Amino acid sequence: MEIFHISAECYPVAKVGGLADVVGALPKYQKAANQDVKVIIPCYDTKFKKENVFESVYTGSVKLGKFDFCFNILKETTDILGFELYLVDIPELFDRPNVYSYEDDIERFVSFQIATLDWIVSRECIPDIINCHDHHTGLIPFMMLYSYKYEKLRRVPSIITIHNGLYQGQFGFDKLNYLAEFNLEHANLLEWGNCINSLAVGVKCAWQVTTVSPSYLDEINEFANGLEPLFNMVRYKSIGILNGIDTDIWNPETDKMLENNYDITAFETGKSDNKKVLCKLFNLDPSKPLFSFIGRLLEEKGGDLLPQAAALALSQNYKEINILILGSGNTEIEKDLNSLLIDYKGNYNTYIGYNEELAHLIYGGADFLMMPSRVEPCGLNQMYAMRYGTVPIVRRTGGLKDTVIDFGDGGNGICHDQASVGDIFYSIQRAINLYQDKDHLNKIIKLGMSTDHSWERVCQEYLEMYKLLIAKV
Ligand code: GLC
Repeated sequence: MEIFHISAECYPVAKVGGLADVVGALPKYQKAANQDVKVIIPCYDTKFKKENVFESVYTGSVKLGKFDFCFNILKETTDILGFELYLVDIPELFDRPNVYSYEDDIERFVSFQIATLDWIVSRECIPDIINCHDHHTGLIPFMMLYSYKYEKLRRVPSIITIHNGLYQGQFGFDKLNYLAEFNLEHANLLEWGNCINSLAVGVKCAWQVTTVSPSYLDEINEFANGLEPLFNMVRYKSIGILNGIDTDIWNPETDKMLENNYDITAFETGKSDNKKVLCKLFNLDPSKPLFSFIGRLLEEKGGDLLPQAAALALSQNYKEINILILGSGNTEIEKDLNSLLIDYKGNYNTYIGYNEELAHLIYGGADFLMMPSRVEPCGLNQMYAMRYGTVPIVRRTGGLKDTVIDFGDGGNGICHDQASVGDIFYSIQRAINLYQDKDHLNKIIKLGMSTDHSWERVCQEYLEMYKLLIAKV
């Protein structure tokens, strides 16, 4: 089976969030299951691009209204990722360090989608499956169905996997002529809320819609930034498949980014050694429980609740706990978090930025990981945490609800219902009590470390879905 994954991110080539982790892992496991898997992302100016060797396999040009862009499809030559990687090189639009947040993001991602399809359609064989990810690839299922030049792809099953339905890639109908010429009778499919909504287009036109957890599929029927009625309408072709984690990269026994490696039989000493290193780096007290947060500092992730929750927990339990925050995002939240540095010196610290290595060390050394997300389509950090013996403290939402069960119910973590300062504070109190009861805590840690979050199992679910779609062709 030839499978194409089309995405804006793929770890370790270009990463902003969990989308990259998934697109860097799922294909690897599909390849290991003997499928012919190709991943296509834009060619950004990243470290991976500079350090690896590529060959050009196709050149062309995209006409976007009055603009013309030349592009190159580059293939990574050494196969170091465990699957075939292709980069769509459009120098004028993508030869920049960041993945998103440029004024011309619409031009960038529409061109990316057209260049990708131009190349796919130019090949001798037709793929069996096209799996698109998030709104940056949402126009592809539409163009495959209705753009004249992609007629060859009409009967190829397309899937849109939703990693985050809040971002939808909307733009005005004045840019309608950006799309590869299509039968205008179908223009209504592009519309949602008086504009072209890339995610809505993908959801309407893809053969199958998937979300990255079953609970998130339920939630988007009620909360999806205006797309709720659409998600209700397409429920018949939607399924939620929980993400896995890459257990080769995320393995405390072999992780080179840890000071000390450990497994389920020796996590106590292993973790406490890592904790010492971490506490030294951040001027914290290794004898106290260490609470951490890793991720984007956004409202969506409950990042705005952290400064107040941390201040409350630290002042009520002064010198009893440590808190360490790693992340970046909203500058107000960053400022509020840093404003606590003086008052709680010795028990609190922050690292504002993105640091993959430090993230690994935190999973390896912290006692608890907080995820008070308002929205969490899947969430991978709670799974990384559990695998590294760090107890997750999560708000029951989306994938967090599907992966973490409160220890009061015999589960592997600590759960709260509201994304509120009060609920976070209450959970921290429960965690402090649990920390005193080492036997109970260790039982919970072991339960988390032994849970199977591997992609092998998940990969089979994707393959089953692909097979059902192919059977409809
Ligand atoms: C997005 C979601 C996150 C999910 C990830 C991978 O980043 O916000 O919840 O885990 O995609 O699917």
